[in-house]
Amino acid sequence: MENIKRYLITSALPYANGPIHIGHLAGVYIPSDIYTRYFRLRGKDVISICGSDEHGVPITLKARQEGVHPQDIVDKFHFLNKDSFEKLGIAFDIYSRTSSEIHYETASEFFKTLYDKGEFIEKTSEQYYDKEAGQFLADRYITGTCPHCGNENAYGDQCENCGTSLSPTELINPKSKISGSKPVLKNTKHWYLPLDRYAPFLKKWILEDHKDWKINVYGQCKSWFDHGLQPRAVSRDLDWGVPVPIDGIKGKVLYVWFDAPIGYISATKELTKDWEKYWKDPETKLVHFIGKDNIVFHCIMFPAMLKAEGTYILPDNVPANEFLNLEGDKISTSRNWAVWLHEYLEDFQGKEDVLRYVLCANAPETKDNDFTWKDFQTRNNNELVAILGNFVNRTLVLTQKYFGGKVPRITELAPYDKKTLEEISRIKSKVEYSLENYRFREALKEAMDIARLGNKYLADTEPWKVIKSNENRVKTIMNISLQITANLTILLEPFLPFTSEKLRNFINFTARDWEFIGRNDLLTVGHQINKSSLLFEKIEDEAIEKQINKLQETKKENKEMEYVFPPQKENISFDEFTRLDIRSGIIVEAEKVPKTQKLIKLKIDTGLDQRTVVSGIAEFFEAKNIIGKQVSVVLNLAPRTIKGIESNGMILMAEDPEGKLVFVSPVEKIRNGSEIK
Ligand code: 2FM
Ligand code: ZN
Repeated sequence: MENIKRYLITSALPYANGPIHIGHLAGVYIPSDIYTRYFRLRGKDVISICGSDEHGVPITLKARQEGVHPQDIVDKFHFLNKDSFEKLGIAFDIYSRTSSEIHYETASEFFKTLYDKGEFIEKTSEQYYDKEAGQFLADRYITGTCPHCGNENAYGDQCENCGTSLSPTELINPKSKISGSKPVLKNTKHWYLPLDRYAPFLKKWILEDHKDWKINVYGQCKSWFDHGLQPRAVSRDLDWGVPVPIDGIKGKVLYVWFDAPIGYISATKELTKDWEKYWKDPETKLVHFIGKDNIVFHCIMFPAMLKAEGTYILPDNVPANEFLNLEGDKISTSRNWAVWLHEYLEDFQGKEDVLRYVLCANAPETKDNDFTWKDFQTRNNNELVAILGNFVNRTLVLTQKYFGGKVPRITELAPYDKKTLEEISRIKSKVEYSLENYRFREALKEAMDIARLGNKYLADTEPWKVIKSNENRVKTIMNISLQITANLTILLEPFLPFTSEKLRNFINFTARDWEFIGRNDLLTVGHQINKSSLLFEKIEDEAIEKQINKLQETKKENKEMEYVFPPQKENISFDEFTRLDIRSGIIVEAEKVPKTQKLIKLKIDTGLDQRTVVSGIAEFFEAKNIIGKQVSVVLNLAPRTIKGIESNGMILMAEDPEGKLVFVSPVEKIRNGSEIK
């Protein structure tokens, strides 16, 4: 194992403008928690830091939309998210927030140090201003058409469609998010961190000294360097955030991406008076867990800030994950396309570890991945229940049955027993290597190999058969199976802390030291284990269908919201309208037109005559069911021949956004031939 004095582990501070979803968890919080728990089990000095990122334009926009103060928004989501993380067993040492006093002090002081050292460039430039609202339009306060892909809803800082990072003046047809008006350009002064000044240092530090970083992280940094680093504004014209701490400056705050990473420092300060040893001693290993959209800020901007300040260490690694999709679609807060953690915790009480397991097993470590409810069910039923649960259950039940729950003595170790026990140490080393190299999926799979090993051991040694002839042999088999179980409680703890605890209770075992893994004397002879229950339960189709239906509902709602009705047609004169002859009639005959998908041949009693009309409604109605239906018929539409049938008129239908058709007919019965006007 690496020779490191202490670990400072940070997890991206989630914005407090929405709940945590599975994408956040798989990308950042599950891996950081596994990593932290692992080093804790190894007895290392390790702290895990997180908290809410409570500034930034999306929060102020949401507050404006809801007619409340930004503080109300962040209060709501800070506590919701803090509570949800706790319930999922994400064991941060502190979950702080950037609206706290200590953060305001820390961020202001950091800015002032850089300001006093002359590390910033002061620049006056033209920026968009909303005259109606009397306000400059930072970042997401402005939308317009993306010059790269034509997306009409690109933001002032980024186009979410093509991912390009933008500056507001690049937008075509810019529009204020506040008033909807076209903004004007107006001069404003801001402070910039000249990233170009740090480029030579950063380039060497990353491209030469950190070739060990994940390919996606390294590659993104390289591409930033290839494009050339530019000075980046670290202030904004807003009133929500940490005020720019310069005398005489009003109405300007620190850019959210300047203050948020400093949040890691303020949270550490809040946690311990000894915070400086974590941030300033080169023997500390600093690791930032983030999602891929945060790479530039953690690998370039924050290190440049830390370097400029001069007294801080830099991250040793920034293991960013890719994105997790949901049922084939990008997770989106605004489209409500997500599995929300607080809802999951309600719907699947006692199954916290199932989510932890699935999200780790399927983590988007090297590429974007997809979460599906079917896969969730399969992994629970075929892996947690059938492999881990099955091994543990068989071991505990047989121990109760044959030995009254007392750990039996090893009578004689057969070569196969020895080989099995040795395998545990081998797996331990593999898990360690994977964990220390941020390969959490692999680590989990390897940890589960111990349960697989146990299952194979039981299947090969067949204690349930041998008991009839050789009780001594069964004593050895059960002892070994119990030692494997005890090993599992430690090895699985970083991944499945609730299961590990449950299992420790089952076998009445309290030791939690990683170095014990591989030992075959964790449970002493005669040790009494407790009565146990099932470690995992099967998840039935019904529970999964409920979740799938919920998502289908969301999809339907989104479709309705997103549908743009065709614009109104050009005006016509009253005379033109009166030229239309629309009457009430009744369908007297209906038959599907052979060899067509959509067409039905109708005979309609129009009051004046009985005539044939061909209508494209077969996908929605069965011919025999519409006989007798009262309809509205345009009589004077010039006849047309469709599939060899002359159609004399047209029936009126209404079509909804999904393309569903319904008849337009008088709501009360009225004589055929009545005029509709
Ligand atoms: O992308 C995000 O959700 C940001 N709120 C992450 C901030 S990380 C750190 F810098 F605080
Ligand atoms: Zn675009």
